Amino acid sequence: WPFYAPLIFQINALKKEKDAVILAHNYQTPQIYHGVADIVGDSLQLAVEATKVKQSVIVQCGVHFMAETSKLLNPDKTVLIPDSRAGCSLASSITAADVTAMREMYPGVPVVTYVNTSAAVKAVTDVCCTSSNALDIVNAVEGDTVIMIPDQFLAQNTAKKTDKKIITWAGACEVHETFTADDISELRHAYPTAKIIAHPECPPEVIDVVDFSGSTAAMINWVKTERPPRVVMVTECSMSDNVASETTGVDFLRGCNICPHMKRINLENILWSLHTNTEEVIVDPAIIPDARRAVERMIEMSR
Ligand code: 13P
Ligand code: SF4
Repeated sequence: WPFYAPLIFQINALKKEKDAVILAHNYQTPQIYHGVADIVGDSLQLAVEATKVKQSVIVQCGVHFMAETSKLLNPDKTVLIPDSRAGCSLASSITAADVTAMREMYPGVPVVTYVNTSAAVKAVTDVCCTSSNALDIVNAVEGDTVIMIPDQFLAQNTAKKTDKKIITWAGACEVHETFTADDISELRHAYPTAKIIAHPECPPEVIDVVDFSGSTAAMINWVKTERPPRVVMVTECSMSDNVASETTGVDFLRGCNICPHMKRINLENILWSLHTNTEEVIVDPAIIPDARRAVERMIEMSR
């Protein structure tokens, strides 16, 4: 922490000077999460908070689709991402043309799109969802069949909890797809008294054998409420780092992967971003209304 203090101090001072707010995802490093973020949360919380921003500049500490969502909800504000190469294997797995082709294949079937997609994909879908409201959104849309894209595992995990038929896409999160039921068995063997919790982007064979599954915010909440003496958070590694300092009496054991995209954001490029007003997130104005509608519909349906 003393090493980071000068950067944290400069960022927080510049933030005020530039009338900027920092929105950070739960996968950001502790120095960002605890040091400079004004708002932290999961994808849904960040989208909801983006609708309430008063400042004229938003610095998104997360990946590109999150910054695009902030821009959709704030087309007249400046939205910055400290490194625009911060992508996502899910967002890059599907294009707007793919969605249009799927619609033609299944006429009339509603399309529920995970927020981990480009604005262009959101613009050709009916409603968005996140890992925290996926089941509610699927149950709320009309009809007994739903196209749920692009995360095959979130879709399969949701399909187990609903009566609706779900048509999936072959996308996956590169951070969560590698976890297996054998990994969980090994963790249980190594730490017999530990609770094991996982994100629903993991394959169903993992979700079936863990003690709890939910969005990043739901996982944090679960740990803070249940206070297990020992816990493994099967997700991105910064999660336990961020919660550990806020949760005494819980021993956090390692069973995580790093998201290289989330890790592109650091204190140095946040400071640079604020200094230079870069890299500005631009969304084609022609697609903003439709993409925004899909996000707003989700927020409305999650209230
Ligand atoms: P949530 O924070 O919405 O659970 O999303 C996890 C994730 O992988 C974001 O990229
Ligand atoms: Fe995408 Fe997975 Fe990284 Fe989240 S953790 S940004 S879903 S690759």
